[in-house]
Amino acid sequence: MDWLRNNLVLLINIAYLVAAVCFIVGLKLLSSPATARRGNQIAAVGMAIAVAATLFMPGLRNIPLILVGLVIGSILSGFVARRVKMTAMPQMVAIFNGMGGATAALVSLVEFQHKPDIGRGEIISIVLGLIIGSISFTGSMIAFGKLQELISGRPVSYPSQQQVNAIIGVAVLALAALIVVLGQAGVSYLLIVALFIAALVLGALIVLPIGGADMPVVIAVLNSMTGVAAALTGFVLNNQALIIAGILVGASGAFLTLLMAKAMNRSVANVLFGAWGAAAAGPAAAATAEALPMRETDPDSAAIPLAYADKVIIVPGYGLAVAQAQHAVRELAESLQDRGVDVRYAIHPVAGRMPGHMNVLLAEANVPYDELFEMEQINDDFANADVAIVVGANDVTNPAARDDPSSPIYGMPILNVDQAKQIYVLKRGRGAGFAGIENMLFHDPKTAMLFGDAKDSLSKLNTAVREA
Ligand code: TAP
Repeated sequence: MDWLRNNLVLLINIAYLVAAVCFIVGLKLLSSPATARRGNQIAAVGMAIAVAATLFMPGLRNIPLILVGLVIGSILSGFVARRVKMTAMPQMVAIFNGMGGATAALVSLVEFQHKPDIGRGEIISIVLGLIIGSISFTGSMIAFGKLQELISGRPVSYPSQQQVNAIIGVAVLALAALIVVLGQAGVSYLLIVALFIAALVLGALIVLPIGGADMPVVIAVLNSMTGVAAALTGFVLNNQALIIAGILVGASGAFLTLLMAKAMNRSVANVLFGAWGAAAAGPAAAATAEALPMRETDPDSAAIPLAYADKVIIVPGYGLAVAQAQHAVRELAESLQDRGVDVRYAIHPVAGRMPGHMNVLLAEANVPYDELFEMEQINDDFANADVAIVVGANDVTNPAARDDPSSPIYGMPILNVDQAKQIYVLKRGRGAGFAGIENMLFHDPKTAMLFGDAKDSLSKLNTAVREA
């Protein structure tokens, strides 16, 4: 017992090391749909170990209060995570992320007042943790509001917006510098509260002008910021697990941001300051679309070429998520496979509205992982496909990204759907995709449009294929 008491800190640090290994292994496993579920479980076990170990930290007070907080938080988040719709996942991530930022900011605020003899290095960590955590909190809340349509998803702008943001940004920097220079003893607590409020306001003002559709990228940026804020708090609390977890979140959020921006062929600066996502199809684009011919089809006609095809590639997009058609698409694929058709799914890295959106949906419907192919793996095969079925995808199939330098999405890598011998597009009508632009694929002579809700169209197609 004595040995245990004497070596408690050592044991806690060993538990933190085990937790860190769980986080890293969990992250690695998250990179493939086949292992993602296990990765998530391993990372959760790591977090449980870290939390449990922290409860034994010598000198920890208010343990009953902490336990009450843990129980309330776990029940609430477990309930929300179970009930959330797949299409509402980005806003749930925004809320969870915002809570992380708020926690980092509040811990910094409290530590500055209560921790004795804070050195200059620690003050820098506290001030940075406070600023980054606060920006991440209000930024995430605005992102949540936009995605949940509680506030307008359109970019909010007003006169002298840039100047106002710049003034608040400079005020935040000036307050931070003053606090670091004056030190804990020389500074009034009011000054740090003022810094907290200014950073909160800045977070909201930075995200307000960004279009709602760009929020997933914004959330990845804010997620990375929350990780950095948590790591800084870890330095202040001298908690290794928090430092490692924060750095892992910060780095993976940054990578995710870069990958998403690259897959959309946009710079991160363009997403944060360009308001491109808000560009809706203007009257001119709509008029052009009206003028172009589109060939319509019905499920019975589309079923024949499908049923007698050798190779079919299914291209899911955002509309699949909206229609919750993941089970219906798997059923159609199975009917085709029963007839000996080779069916594969082509997954674009930014199909849908969040990273891995299509993988998660199709995994939920038990589509075998080995039927899912990344864009680079499958793009050359479209030329050999007898039929490509586009289910609620639009921008990720738009040939303008490859062929039209004047297009706003020019340069974005796309799926080569237009190279398939025949193409069926399942969507409700002539609605544009996220980029708000016309898609010439829909006017291609090889393309036939099957209008209707994707789930409904897929089940009708399935019935027709079974009867063919
Ligand atoms: P989109 O280009 O957004 O197109 C989705 C299409 O689905 C729409 O044209 C819509 O047409 C159709 N649709 C909507 N509800 C439907 C339903 N119930 N049944 C059938 N069709 C339905 O989708 P995408 O091709 O997946 O491209 C994703 C876009 O989002 C890209 O521009 C990407 O850059 C952007 N983005 C992605 C992410 C991530 S990380 N995935 C993050 C931010 C932005 P109708 O209205 O006519 O039905």
